[in-house]
Amino acid sequence: MAKRKVVDDQNHQNLHLQKGFKYWWWQLVEGNSGYNFCINVVILVFLALLITVMYLHTESRIVLEVEKRAVLLEGVNQNASNHHHSIVDDILLHKNNKCDYFTGNWVFDNKSRPLYRDWNCSFMFDDLACEKYHREDLNYQYWRWQPNDCDLPRFDAKALLGLLRNKRLVFVGDSLNRNQWVSFVCMVESAIPPLFKSRKLDGNLYTFSAKEYNASIDFYWSPLLVESNSDDPYNHHLSERIVRSESIQKHAMNWSNADILVFNSYLWYRSVPKLKVLRGNFGDPKPVYKEVERVKGYGMALDTWSKFVLSHLDHKKTRLFWVSMSPTHTRPQNWGKPAKGPRCMNETQPTSKEELKGSESEPKMMNITGDAISDLKSKGVKIDLLNITQLSEYRKDGHPTVYRRLWRPLTKEQIANPVKYADCTHWCLPGVPDVWNEILYAYLLSDSTA
Ligand SMILES: *[C@@H]1O[C@H](CO)[C@@H](O)[C@H](O)[C@H]1NC(C)=O
Ligand SMILES: *[C@@H]1O[C@H](CO)[C@@H](O)[C@H](O)[C@H]1NC(C)=O
Ligand SMILES: *[C@@H]1O[C@H](CO)[C@@H](O)[C@H](O)[C@H]1NC(C)=O
Ligand SMILES: *[C@@H]1O[C@H](CO)[C@@H](O)[C@H](O)[C@H]1NC(C)=O
Ligand SMILES: *[C@@H]1O[C@H](CO)[C@@H](O)[C@H](O)[C@H]1NC(C)=O
Ligand SMILES: *[C@@H]1O[C@H](CO)[C@@H](O)[C@H](O)[C@H]1NC(C)=O
Ligand SMILES: *[C@@H]1O[C@H](CO)[C@@H](O)[C@H](O)[C@H]1NC(C)=O
Ligand SMILES: *[C@@H]1O[C@H](CO)[C@@H](O)[C@H](O)[C@H]1NC(C)=O
Repeated sequence: MAKRKVVDDQNHQNLHLQKGFKYWWWQLVEGNSGYNFCINVVILVFLALLITVMYLHTESRIVLEVEKRAVLLEGVNQNASNHHHSIVDDILLHKNNKCDYFTGNWVFDNKSRPLYRDWNCSFMFDDLACEKYHREDLNYQYWRWQPNDCDLPRFDAKALLGLLRNKRLVFVGDSLNRNQWVSFVCMVESAIPPLFKSRKLDGNLYTFSAKEYNASIDFYWSPLLVESNSDDPYNHHLSERIVRSESIQKHAMNWSNADILVFNSYLWYRSVPKLKVLRGNFGDPKPVYKEVERVKGYGMALDTWSKFVLSHLDHKKTRLFWVSMSPTHTRPQNWGKPAKGPRCMNETQPTSKEELKGSESEPKMMNITGDAISDLKSKGVKIDLLNITQLSEYRKDGHPTVYRRLWRPLTKEQIANPVKYADCTHWCLPGVPDVWNEILYAYLLSDSTA
């Protein structure tokens, strides 16, 4: 349509020029003074120049677009080795989201990995910086995810930033989503010179700005998506979990104007047997609660979220993703080790499908997510599920355990007690969430070429 309009405008202009041209041609032929003749020649030459310039301008605009795309694609394609398809293949494969990125295997690859170093990312968080906090075995940094049916596009920070130009991307959810946001920022920040990037932590909202690109890459803390007593970004580990299952507005007004939204929420529902659903407001003198089982509570929240997404977002503009539950590795019996072992401590290799004997994830909750997403899809919302659960399940080696610092370093006693203190929930960076972001990148790239 847009192309057609440009062509029409061009014809319209040409028509005007032709009329003018006729008039001056007549003058040129009919005019009898030398002075007039000179003026006319000058005007003719000027007109010819003008037409040429206009023509070249249109041409160069097209060439520029093509070049811009080529630069974008070239970046993606550079040094493509055999596990990376050419961009043409990528477009063909990914166009109708035919490729299942989520079924595949981990490949040890210390040539193309890691994508950055924890001590070299200006925006790292210390609870994820395992190498910096003395993890000796660094193999966790060297695994690449290889889908069975296709290849992920080669990650290119500049190309990704190009896709985010003049846009706001917000990760909304819990600390796993923050984990993914930190990974995202570290993946792109090396492509931005020091004075052109900044990070601001403001209550629930963390903002990373890439100034040259006028791009904003944010994280918004709302671990249960709807309002809850865990919404304080610092003081949220309370013994009871209280939610206002029908209230999302207070959070949503901080993210609803985003161009791209990446949601997650799972762990805070998973980690309690029951939730208290608050009827009125927080701070009511006589609060009224109803206790619900966690899966039910999760369903109620996703209902509220779906309704909001459906009725309050601009579906033409907003691109949505949901990241499925991130698996934890606190039960060694799930990969064939004694149940009393030190959780995921000292794990240095991924498990294989065959070794996996169980999972700590809750399939019922996956079902609720899956249903909510397909329902939104069927109503025309541009949303995709990034189903990273299984691929992450293999990575029992990927967690920070005791090689981290949260507020303060772990004490000697804590380090010596991994059964209690090893973090087998979040992920060391660089590591597993980089792959979640590579998949997100694949989706954004295929959107841009659709
Ligand atoms: C591509 O590979 C060549 C040779 O292996 C190397 O010199 C060059 O730096 C690489 N380019 C990028 C962008 O990695
Ligand atoms: C990559 O891993 C292989 C196999 O473990 C090892 O032989 C090689 O030295 C490693 N290369 C680098 C650059 O770490
Ligand atoms: C990352 O490494 C490069 C090259 O070694 C260095 O110039 C840069 O200052 C480092 N950045 C950080 C944040 O450590
Ligand atoms: C900068 O990005 C914001 C979205 O984050 C957008 O609303 C605004 O129009 C952009 N500014 C320019 C000059 O394009
Ligand atoms: C969220 O939005 C509300 C209303 O615009 C605002 O008062 C509040 O400060 C915002 N929170 C953050 C963290 O930006
Ligand atoms: C982890 O491995 C180190 C070195 O092999 C060993 O000294 C330590 O006891 C192990 N820790 C646990 C909790 O198994
Ligand atoms: C998930 O949903 C499918 C079909 O809707 C059903 O067959 C399956 O039993 C459900 N699984 C769980 C764990 O609820
Ligand atoms: C996500 O993937 C897992 C296994 O790969 C599958 O069991 C599950 O049904 C998928 N979830 C959805 C909502 O499609």
